Amino acid sequence: MNSESNCPVSRRGLLQAGGALLLAAALPPNRAHSASSSNDYKISVAPDRARLAGQDRPETDVWTYNGTVPGSLVRLRQDVPARLVVENRLDQETTVHWHGIRLPNAMDGVPGLTQPPIRPGESFVYEFTPPDAGTFWYHPHANSLEQLGRGLAGALIVEESEPVTVDRDLVWMLSDWRLTEDGGIASGFGNRMEAGMSGRVGNTVTLNGRVSEAESFRSGERVRLRLVNASLARIMALRFDGHRPVVVAVDGQPCDPHDPDSGRIFLGPAMRVDLVLDMQGEPGRRYDVIDDFYDGLSYRLTQLVYEKPPVREHSLDAPLALPRNPLPEPDLASAERHRLTLQGGMMSAMMGSGDMQGGMMGGGGMMGMGHGAVWAINGQSMTGDGHAGMEPALAFERGRSVVLELRNETTWWHPMHFHGHSLRVLSRNGRPVPHRQWQDTVLMAPKDVVEAAFVADNPGDWMLHCHVMDHQMSGMMTVLRVA
Ligand code: C2O
Ligand code: CU
Repeated sequence: MNSESNCPVSRRGLLQAGGALLLAAALPPNRAHSASSSNDYKISVAPDRARLAGQDRPETDVWTYNGTVPGSLVRLRQDVPARLVVENRLDQETTVHWHGIRLPNAMDGVPGLTQPPIRPGESFVYEFTPPDAGTFWYHPHANSLEQLGRGLAGALIVEESEPVTVDRDLVWMLSDWRLTEDGGIASGFGNRMEAGMSGRVGNTVTLNGRVSEAESFRSGERVRLRLVNASLARIMALRFDGHRPVVVAVDGQPCDPHDPDSGRIFLGPAMRVDLVLDMQGEPGRRYDVIDDFYDGLSYRLTQLVYEKPPVREHSLDAPLALPRNPLPEPDLASAERHRLTLQGGMMSAMMGSGDMQGGMMGGGGMMGMGHGAVWAINGQSMTGDGHAGMEPALAFERGRSVVLELRNETTWWHPMHFHGHSLRVLSRNGRPVPHRQWQDTVLMAPKDVVEAAFVADNPGDWMLHCHVMDHQMSGMMTVLRVA
C-alpha cells in the first residue's frame, strides 16, 4: 500500500511517505489535567528510541524528555508556583529553557549566563510561577543544535485560571528531522555552508512525534489547536483546506481573533499559534493540511478526517477571544529607541569565498566560541551556546519602555527570539501591523525592518538570538541587560 516508503531518502520522498501510515496524534487532549494540580514535574533527559516515520520504517535513536518525543506534555496553571526537577542522564551537559515564559532570570536555562550547566548524572530544580496562560515549549540551551535536533523538545501549556470553552484542546508539536535511510539521525550538525544559508532543514516532519497520515475530527466540534514549531530551521506556512482557522493567540499571548493573512499560518522555528477551528467538514470526507512555505517543496502535513458522527448540527457561537495576560503596556511617547541590525550569511561580505572554502575543507563543524562566525548582530558575533562572559549589546534601566528597531540586512529569514519578555510588534517595513501582536519570536523576512516595543521590567541578562539553531550557533546571538 505504501509504494513510496521504499524510495531512497529524499526530502520529498520521506515527506510523502507519511501519506500511507495510520497514526493518530500521540497526545490525547487534556490528559495531564490531574497531574498538573501540584504543578510538580520530574523530567529525565535520556537517550531512547522512537518510531518517527511509521511502523514499516526503522526506529530512530533519539534524546528524550521522559522517554518520548516530543517530551512529556507539561501543563502548569497560571499564577500557581511550579517546580520542575530536571535530571540529566545524557553523557553531555544540558539545561532546559522554558521558551516564552516570563520567569526569573535564574530559571531561564542559559548555561554560563543564568545557571551552571547540568552535568551528566546531576539534577537542577527549576521553580517559577507562570504569569501568562498560553502555549509555550521547552528545550535545551546547551549544545542546542544537536540536542534539539536529536529530539529534546516538549510542549508546555499554562492553563487559564478560567477554562476556555472548547470541545477539545489539542497540541500539535511539529518537528523536522533529517533522517538517513536506515532511520538514523544524519550527522553533520554545524555544517558551515548550511549555517550560512537557511540552516539544517530536514526531510521528515512529525506531528507529535509521528509522521501523520490523518487526524480525526467530528463535524460541529470546536477545537483549540495549539501549533508549536519545534524545528531547528524549517519555516512553515500551513493551509487548512476546506476550513477556516481563526488565530486566537500568537506565542502564547492572546490577540484579537482574526483570519490568518492570506489564509496561511506562518510558523518560524520556536513560534506558536493557537487556532480555534469550528470543524465543519462533511462526514466521510478528508481535508488536506498543506505546508507550502518553500517554493516547490510543499507537502501534506496531515489530513483532517471525519469518520465519526457530528457532535452537533451547528457550530458554537460562543465568543472566541481568550482572556488577556497581564503584560505591561510600553509607553511609546517616553520609550528609548534602539536598533539591532542582523548581518552576515552566505553572499555577504562576512562569508567571502576563501573563508568559505576553508570552512568546507575543514569539514564544517566550526562552532567554537569566537570561531566560525557567519552572522552578527550590530557588528558583533556571539557563537556557540550560552557561556560565561557574554557582554550585553544593550542595557536598559528596569521599568523603561523600549522600542527596538530590528533591521534584517541579510537575504535570509530569521525568527528572532527574546528571552524574559514579550514584545508588541508595532510595524513592519514602515507599515503598522494589523493586530500589534505580542510575540517572543519575531519572524523576519529578508530585508525586513520591524519595530517592536516592550517594558524592560524583568531584571537580568537575557539572551536574544535567531531560533534557526545553526544561525544562533554561528553568531546571530546577543544579550540584553535589564538592571
Ligand atoms: Cu527557544 Cu533561546 O530559545
Ligand atoms: Cu537566523
